[in-house]
Amino acid sequence: MEAALLPFTTPSLSPPLFSSPSSSNNKLSLPAKKITSSRSTNRKGNATARSRSHQLLPPLRASASSETETVPAVGSPAVPSKMKAWVYDEYGDANVLRFDEEVVVPEVKEDQVLLKVVAAAINPVDFKRRQGKFKATDSPLPTVPGYDVAGVVVKVGSQVKGLKEGDEVYGNINEKALEFPKQFGSIAEYTAVEEKLLAIKPKNLDFAQAAGLPLAIETAMQGLEKAGFSSGNSILVLGGAGGVGSLVVQLAKQVYGASKVAATASTGKLELLKSLGVDLAIDYTKENFEELPEKFDVVYDAVGQGDKAVKAVKEGGSVVVLTGAVSPPGFRFVVTSDGSALTTLNPFLESGKVKPIVDPKGPFPFSKVIEAFSYLETGRATGKVVIYPIP
Ligand SMILES: NC(=O)c1ccc[n+]([C@@H]2O[C@H](COP(=O)([O-])OP(=O)(O)OC[C@H]3O[C@@H](n4cnc5c(N)ncnc54)[C@H](OP(=O)(O)O)[C@@H]3O)[C@@H](O)[C@H]2O)c1
Repeated sequence: MEAALLPFTTPSLSPPLFSSPSSSNNKLSLPAKKITSSRSTNRKGNATARSRSHQLLPPLRASASSETETVPAVGSPAVPSKMKAWVYDEYGDANVLRFDEEVVVPEVKEDQVLLKVVAAAINPVDFKRRQGKFKATDSPLPTVPGYDVAGVVVKVGSQVKGLKEGDEVYGNINEKALEFPKQFGSIAEYTAVEEKLLAIKPKNLDFAQAAGLPLAIETAMQGLEKAGFSSGNSILVLGGAGGVGSLVVQLAKQVYGASKVAATASTGKLELLKSLGVDLAIDYTKENFEELPEKFDVVYDAVGQGDKAVKAVKEGGSVVVLTGAVSPPGFRFVVTSDGSALTTLNPFLESGKVKPIVDPKGPFPFSKVIEAFSYLETGRATGKVVIYPIP
């Protein structure tokens, strides 16, 4: 396993922009106690006295989604009671994030497993949530961020049927992205996740590659499904080089049998688009896609250009947008985490038909989570921003 992960520890992972497969084929449970940090570190990772805001914090509580009973887990006695994690105690910019070495390891509920996190990935929803944009439906602060995870099962709840200790899995830990996401996310040594949100990690992918997939690939797939995309259809993907867009283009081509895939990106990313199977790579710094004579069966907007997107669709076609406003026939949806969708896609990942794209500026080590967020927040990431290794 370590050998397979090695390329990700090397800073010079470019080009190619995407990481190649390493083999040829292929709610918060109530913590037993509060975060009781005696030590935290500043953004440079240096040990500091306990932060002021931390001292004032209430104990970490169960999220509002934690309604089922917390049950004792059957499992490894080797799991510690405290863990290292990134935490924020108030909403704000990336500097509200702090490293804490003594966060209570979450307990598992009956339908959950506890994962030793090996790699995690961050998504725009993580920073939008941290900025307080979803306050009304957020779990209580303080928060350990992180939706995407790849790791190893170290405990199983009493009702878990399909997973066992030692299984290598990946998934998006929050069933509803915006409805009471877990208080204890994946940017931590351990995280508790419902079995149904996880899938066995594709054998050919290392943890860093797998961690970048769940939320983005689920979003890509659900958007295509909701748009009614099917074999022989054409598609225009706005933002084809981003976390979601890079998977929409691949799924459209390799899984759904698109007749033509067009996508937008800036000049330096056009070659990546072509390497992912894009037939028409549009440089948005030079061309206005909405003015092209060609129209598409489906327009998938991962940028927030709903007003222009509706101008590029054929009569009777669908326009799916992930962010921003859109008028009919456009529609917006919010992803639902689904381990069975990942299981369905595993053969395409294992055959190499669909490839995870890990941004070449990463993976970011666990000490550089603030830097990773700052980078993602530029809006210029290529594929996924991954955090690895996680101790
Ligand atoms: N509704 C949902 O369930 C859902 C789920 C997932 C994501 N989202 C949202 O969807 C959006 C995309 O998510 P993501 O994870 O894919 O983000 P991301 O990885 O951060 O997207 C970055 C990419 O966007 C591209 N980009 C920026 N402006 C562009 C433009 N004008 N035209 C074409 N490409 C452009 C950048 O390419 P360049 O450097 O070439 O500009 C970059 O590669 C975010 O707003 C996110 O919150 C919503």
